[in-house]
Formats: sequence, structure tokens, C-alpha cells
Amino acid sequence: MDVSQKFDGLRSEIEDRFAEEIVALRRDIHREPELGFDTKKTAQKVLAALDGLPLEVETGIAENGIVATLHGEGEGPTVALRADMDALPIREETGLPFASEAEGKMHACGHDGHTSMLVGAAHALSQDSVRGRLNGTVKFVFQPAEEGGGGGRVMVEEGVAEGVDSIFALHLWPGLPFGTVATKAGPIMAAADGFEMEIRGSGGHGAMPHLTADAVVIAAQVVTALQTVVSREVDPVEPAVLTIGEIGAGTAFNIIPEKARIGGTVRTLNADLRERMPERIEEVARGVAQGMRGDVRLDYNFSYPVTLNDVRAAERALGVAGDLFGEGSVLELRNPSMGGEDFAFFLEKVPGAFVWLGVGEEVSGLHTPRFAFDEEILPRGSALLAALALESLSR
Ligand code: NI
Repeated sequence: MDVSQKFDGLRSEIEDRFAEEIVALRRDIHREPELGFDTKKTAQKVLAALDGLPLEVETGIAENGIVATLHGEGEGPTVALRADMDALPIREETGLPFASEAEGKMHACGHDGHTSMLVGAAHALSQDSVRGRLNGTVKFVFQPAEEGGGGGRVMVEEGVAEGVDSIFALHLWPGLPFGTVATKAGPIMAAADGFEMEIRGSGGHGAMPHLTADAVVIAAQVVTALQTVVSREVDPVEPAVLTIGEIGAGTAFNIIPEKARIGGTVRTLNADLRERMPERIEEVARGVAQGMRGDVRLDYNFSYPVTLNDVRAAERALGVAGDLFGEGSVLELRNPSMGGEDFAFFLEKVPGAFVWLGVGEEVSGLHTPRFAFDEEILPRGSALLAALALESLSR
């Protein structure tokens, strides 16, 4: 039996036998979105959907995370497949019949889809006929708190990556043709760090600015000056982003406030550059502020590292996708996204690949209130995850 025949059976079996359940689970999770580590109900739904399968199930990892282990026939390596379970603080506007019933919370990043696809893969791989072909072990990893909070980091700290030889994860991807599987070797997502900066002056009467150090004017100059950190300090061929997304000060139109506050995000692909950014941000901001009789205090937060795909794992993912869906559905990416992803923490410990699964070019973007996708993608994602495990554990 050649590889593509092997996967043909797997794909049609998932579509015929499990698609309905996968879609039902996705809708159930979508209706009750949960944030951060607080994914208790979602975890219960996952456990109920895995019930009866020949898995060793561990719960309570990183609070509400789950690791379900499937032992194959052989003593080969261990491959892990990871899905994220958390939603976002966004008010849903899709109008779907199974739209969020939790006010101000929504699965706007497709994690409901990722979780149900992984459950589908667990069902497919647990069938006796498929399990008998697994020379090794599969771990199904359900992670909370991808959207900030670093649930992936906590799972790694709690030992989830130990004894794992390779790992894969999928992300539904608007802007990519429906059903296209895309990845690349090396960086695929950026390091995503953040900062808060307090700008300190001295306040006073709006009519007597000469008696103050105006924190609003200093903040305005600092925001402008920080635009030069990327444009004038970073090698032009090195990708970097510095965005100030928050600014705040003041209590009344005629009072010069003592303090202002800005918040920003920094995205990089290069570890040395990542390390250097806080120092340059602080120096530029302080120089500007001190020139105007103020000062700054920087609170810098290194959050998610670069999501770095292993060369062979990325090749394997593209190869398996070609066997499953045809070469026309495979795209080797030229460039990474400057978005961040906490699957990066797993990839720091274990070689693996993060893979995008296209949901179409017309789909509203991730993290928007109208994000919705055609559920036909779900059994495909399950098949891709299952095939990645099967290929990684083939004799
Ligand atoms: Ni996401």
C-alpha cells in the first residue's frame, strides 16, 4: 500500500463516519466560548467527545488542559498533536444559529474548529484498523489560554513536551484559498512582545503650561519618536513591527495631566533583535521625555517567542497534505506572518510544524466579530492531523 492510498481511506472514513460529530462538537463549543485558562466547560465537552476511545486521559494540566494518549501497536516514537481551546473577548456579529450565548465572548480565532478537528483525529486514529498501523504513541494535547496567558508555556512547564519526538498544530487561516495547506521551514509566526510605558511630567493649569512638564505633549513626541526605532535602527531587510495601540491621559480639557500612558506591541523574527528592542525603546523615549523635563518608566513583557518550524517537520506536513488533498492544495509559504502564536513554546522543546489551513479569501479576518468559516474544512483538518500522526509513526 502506498502512502496516498493509505491516506485516501483515512480521509473518506473521517468524512463518512465522523464529520457529523466533529461539526456538532464545534457548534457546541462555539455556543459557549470561554476565555484564557478558564476553559472548564470546553474541556468537559472534549472529554465527553473522547469518551469510549482507548485513550489514557490526563486532565487539569495548565488548569483546564487535557492530554489524551493513544498507544499504537509498536514501540516507536511519540508524536503530539495540539489544539487550542480558548475564545476572545469580542461580541459576536455572525448571526449564526449557533452563535455565542456568552455576552462579549466569541470564538473569533477558530479555536473551536481546532479543538473539534483534533477530537476527530483522535476518533480516526483510535479505530482498530488504523491504530494497528501506528508504530508508537500519539498524544492529543488540548491547550487553554493561547490568546494571551501563555497556556502553551504552562503546559510545557508542566511536562507535556517531555518524551515527545515531534509535534504538529493547525490554524484555520482566512485569506488562504479554501482547503489549502500552507507552511514553511523556519519562522512562520513572529515573537510577540508587549510593553506599557508611563510618561511622567508635572501637571498644572491648562493656561499655565510654562509651570508644568506636559505629559500629553511628551507622550505625543514619544509616540512619534518610537516610529524611528524600526525605520532607523533595524536593518531594513530584517522584519520588525512596533505598534502603539493604546494611549491615555488626562481628566479634563483644561488640566495638564502629570502622567500619560502608552501601550504597544513589538514583533520580531530574530532573537538578538528581540532582546535589543526594549533597551532602544526605553532610550529613545527617555531621551525625548528628558529633553522636555519629563521621564518615562518602561514595563516590557517578553511574551511569545518566534514560532520556528523544523525543516523536516514542515516538509512532512507539506508532503502529507499533498498526498491527502493533491499538490494543488499545498502552498510552501515564502514569508511568515508577524502575528504571534504560543505553539512556539512547544516548538522550543520539540521539532515540529505549525500549519495554516485555508478557509477562503472572502472570509472575515481572525479576531473580527464576523469571523465564520465553512465547516466542510473540519473533517479535512481532522484528516490532516491524523495523517501527520500516521506518517510520523509509519514503520
Ligand atoms: Ni488563534
